[in-house]
Amino acid sequence: MNVDEIDCRLIEQGSWVEQVEWLAEVDSTNRFLANETMTGRNLPVLVGANTQTAGRGRGSNSWWSAPGSLTFSIVFDPQQFAIPTSFLPRMSLSTGMAVRKTVARWLPESNVQVKWPNDVYVQGRKVAGLLIESHPASPSLLIVGIGLNVNNSLQSAPQQLQAKATSIVDMSGSEASRTDVLIQLLEDLEHEWNRIATASDFLEDYRNHCYLSGRNILVNDGVDEIGGLCEGVDAEGALLVRLPVGVQRIFAGTIEVIGE
Ligand code: BTN
Repeated sequence: MNVDEIDCRLIEQGSWVEQVEWLAEVDSTNRFLANETMTGRNLPVLVGANTQTAGRGRGSNSWWSAPGSLTFSIVFDPQQFAIPTSFLPRMSLSTGMAVRKTVARWLPESNVQVKWPNDVYVQGRKVAGLLIESHPASPSLLIVGIGLNVNNSLQSAPQQLQAKATSIVDMSGSEASRTDVLIQLLEDLEHEWNRIATASDFLEDYRNHCYLSGRNILVNDGVDEIGGLCEGVDAEGALLVRLPVGVQRIFAGTIEVIGE
């Protein structure tokens, strides 16, 4: 089988997703699902695309999609994983940890980390990004969008991305089956989401793989920018930044590492 072939039936049979649809091209898989009515549908539904013409990211980020990457979104009810509403903020960190785990399976020799809240980095370069939104017409449903660079070499990416991002093929030198990576990723997501409310070692696990800890960072919350030393995450998943006046807890924002 061609490594880039997506076998929708195999994914449906080998995972907890009820319906898989794969498109040749779409503007954004998150937007596609947000525009679909979910009433009466068998959830979870996964929609992926070989290329996105307007892939969206967190804040003002966009997402570069090229053939060979995995770009998809899943719409589901968090109740399926018995996630209490009070634990929903942890979804973001937990989803990043699941993607981290999948990437590490294909890159066992590399240092695969999470950049708060949920970007996945390999040796200091971004390999995956996540965008989690609620469904506009059914706000109790979540849309989790994942972009993971698999067989798309960054050599064909826009110049400004080449030094900042990487892919599984660039790091390992071999292509991976996109269907296998996706099935494994769905298994890792299921495992992480099922333990959101119970795992006592979750934060320790997150801290062990935290890319920003000990680095000087700039945090932009859309209004202000502050700079300081990152001291990891606290029990609620907030990012801790040491400033001259003390430690500040950050709940949202984009982070830039300085001095690298
Ligand atoms: C980020 O890096 O800020 C998040 C990027 C998220 C990209 C994925 S690709 C699939 C899904 N569809 C989108 O438009 N965005 C997400």
